[in-house]
Amino acid sequence: MLSLQLHRLQKYLWPFCLHVALLATSARGQTADYLVGRKQTVYNPSQLSDVQFLEYSNLSDGQHLREAVQNILIPRVVGTANHSIVRQYIVNSLRDLKWHVELNSFHDKAPIVGQLHFHNIIATLNPQAERYLVLACHYDSKYIPDVEFVGAIDSAVPCAMLLNLAKVLEEQLRPLQTAKLSLMLLFFDGEEAFEEWGPNDSIYGARHLAKLWEKQGKLDRIDMLVLLDLLGAPDPAFYSFFGNTELWFMRLADLEQRLAEKSLLERYVNSGVNNWDPTRYFQPQALRSGLVEDDHIPFLRRNVPVVHLIPMPFPSVWHTQHDNESVIDYATTNNLALIIRLFTLEYLLGAK
Ligand SMILES: *[C@@H]1O[C@H](CO)[C@@H](O)[C@H](O)[C@H]1NC(C)=O
Ligand SMILES: *[C@@H]1O[C@H](CO)[C@@H](O)[C@H](O)[C@H]1NC(C)=O
Ligand SMILES: *[C@@H]1O[C@H](CO)[C@@H](O)[C@H](O)[C@H]1NC(C)=O
Ligand SMILES: *[C@@H]1O[C@H](CO)[C@@H](O)[C@H](O)[C@H]1NC(C)=O
Ligand SMILES: [Zn+2]
Repeated sequence: MLSLQLHRLQKYLWPFCLHVALLATSARGQTADYLVGRKQTVYNPSQLSDVQFLEYSNLSDGQHLREAVQNILIPRVVGTANHSIVRQYIVNSLRDLKWHVELNSFHDKAPIVGQLHFHNIIATLNPQAERYLVLACHYDSKYIPDVEFVGAIDSAVPCAMLLNLAKVLEEQLRPLQTAKLSLMLLFFDGEEAFEEWGPNDSIYGARHLAKLWEKQGKLDRIDMLVLLDLLGAPDPAFYSFFGNTELWFMRLADLEQRLAEKSLLERYVNSGVNNWDPTRYFQPQALRSGLVEDDHIPFLRRNVPVVHLIPMPFPSVWHTQHDNESVIDYATTNNLALIIRLFTLEYLLGAK
């Protein structure tokens, strides 16, 4: 994610960015409709009723989430045997849950390593659906010379969250096997740069897939791409980066608040690890920053609506050997996974 230079920029510009964000209009109180997609289709699903909200909030499987993290948490650089093991684990987990899983495989050339065979994993509940909510992460890990880098937040935890969502909501998602509006889980390959982040050395999988789907006319079927990255560390702060999905971002914020009011979040307090005070994960200020490059970029450039769930600033362990299991805060991880599950159900089952 993002080049080193950009990261440095972010570090120094951060107080400035935040300042700008605080001056910007609050995300609330803008247009009343939920405008989705290039055709500006109005899609405004109902909020979950109290009964649904309590029923769905009760669903979780923290043990499964930990197991999924364990299975992904090995060095998994593209082209290595461990990378294949993790890919197979993801594919098998979803096939066991009756998902339709395809690999989008292709070759590309990377610095240092040369020709590589990449495989994006595309999982759908209904391969014939007309529209999709897409939840995405990347499953490769960064090649860092002389470091056994396992990438817990980057992005073993986000990928484990998606597998856990499929497992926990197995029954609730079953109607989506035949629905016109359905769910897709996307596991990008080759997000990480091998040498230095740049347009030809990064997001290999996302660049390939966005281009392919544009050619095939499939991008119009994506209502929205929700990209999860760098999740699992305590005290994340998320901001709405894009105006056209701001009201969806606010739905996430509302779900967080609803859970907090009912005391349904685990250890929902500042852990003290970071020196700012996140009284909430989803921040009400918009942050219009073009700084963060990630797998969403090739889709964003092709007008696919995007919600980018990445903490700002990045957790301090980012791209260091400290990004291992010891950084994972399972209370935060379970809370975020719950919010994302509720959002998914609200989005997909709330159609009137
Ligand atoms: C949620 O789970 C708790 C404990 O298992 C149970 O007591 C409660 O009735 C459940 N609530 C709903 C709405 O299913
Ligand atoms: C592959 O994963 C195992 C853990 O399952 C680890 O011990 C080993 O070092 C990894 N191999 C490489 C080449 O990273
Ligand atoms: C990336 O690759 C394209 C096509 O091969 C080339 O035209 C371009 O100069 C490259 N860009 C960089 C920054 O290396
Ligand atoms: C994980 O990182 C922490 C912090 O750098 C370190 O103390 C610990 O030994 C590491 N754990 C493993 C299993 O590598
Ligand atoms: Zn990374």
